[in-house]
Amino acid sequence: MQRLYRKRIVLGVGGGIAAYKSAELVRRLRDHGAEVRVVMTQGGREFITPLTLQALSGHPVHLDLLDPAAEAAMGHIELARWTDLVLIAPATADLMARLAQGIANDLLTTLVLATNAPVALAPAMNQAMWADPATQANRQLLEQRGIRLFGPGSGSQACGDVGMGRMLEAEELAQAAADCFENGRLSGLRLLITAGPTQENIDPVRYITNHSSGKMGFALAEAAAEAGAQVTLVTGPVFLPTPDRVQRIDVVSARDMLAACEAAMPCGLLIAAAAVADYRPEVVAPHKLKKDPTTGDGLLLQMVRNPDILATLAARPDRPFCVGFAAETENLLDYAMRKLRDKNLDLIVANDVANPSIGFNSEENAVSVIDRQQHVTRFGQASKGHIARALVAFIADRYRQA
Ligand code: C5P
Repeated sequence: MQRLYRKRIVLGVGGGIAAYKSAELVRRLRDHGAEVRVVMTQGGREFITPLTLQALSGHPVHLDLLDPAAEAAMGHIELARWTDLVLIAPATADLMARLAQGIANDLLTTLVLATNAPVALAPAMNQAMWADPATQANRQLLEQRGIRLFGPGSGSQACGDVGMGRMLEAEELAQAAADCFENGRLSGLRLLITAGPTQENIDPVRYITNHSSGKMGFALAEAAAEAGAQVTLVTGPVFLPTPDRVQRIDVVSARDMLAACEAAMPCGLLIAAAAVADYRPEVVAPHKLKKDPTTGDGLLLQMVRNPDILATLAARPDRPFCVGFAAETENLLDYAMRKLRDKNLDLIVANDVANPSIGFNSEENAVSVIDRQQHVTRFGQASKGHIARALVAFIADRYRQA
């Protein structure tokens, strides 16, 4: 199993002798399925060349905050949003001190302040430096703020000392990074997710559909599986790999999707992220429709309403905790609140699809979640994976309180 499949990791390399292990770490992270971008401090470059890490990560290494060329390719804010985890290995005493004080005087420290993603440090330093009260105070402060520490380990050190301060080995760090994505928030719960568009046939060669890529629903399925849920993902036609530990059911039309969802009931929690076609052609022509000269330039297609999958499941006696999505191009919160009421939902996730940087098919998203009391919780722009994990954590809390 690739424990970091499709996870985006920024690896920060500080200036310590353990930086030589970072090369191996890049390989291990990628072996576990992660996409890795490397950011090096000035000190890190003294110990290992950017070229090595570029070759191993498959991407240019990010070095300076004020490098116009690098910022044009992927600026530090984009990098901060892109990543699912910032792992700093080695993390020197100096880096820990700067991070503890919120100093942002290079690319790596700036990125740590700018990201919403979890941050983990793999300390590496001489045993006396690690034991120093200043370093220990910084460690405590960082941990209080939710920054994780992997290690350090104990043993013989490059300087000849023996004691605490050795950086953990690459495989141990890769496993610890994977553990960051695992949690038991939804353990044991059966969860149903709908995703992607539906296709409604007009004739044997044509259909009506929409721009949904399925990325958000798939990211939610992955995050829910990481949270320990038993996930069934009912998806319309999309080009996405199935997340680990997720049972995937492929469907085409809205009616197929409803049937597959009903077959997957009962479940404790339903997240309806699919963009279901509201209408379908009343009759599917048995043969390819021909251009008909008697009707002039037009073609009239009679459409009928599709069943509302979410509303149907929310009306069942064994109703799950229901989370809907509202993708709108205007009056986002008003329309979303109306849907929450009309479909009898517990939560609705409002998504502004008029904004091209977060809408259909984009890699990022920004959403607001509304509850029955009309409280609005905002989740700022970040990768769909990151938003999905934050949403799953939020939904899990609300589910437990219900
Ligand atoms: O009414 P609207 O399509 O905007 O509602 C969006 C929400 O309802 C989404 O959660 C979507 O998955 C769900 N839905 C559904 N079946 C439909 C239409 C929408 O489950 N036929």
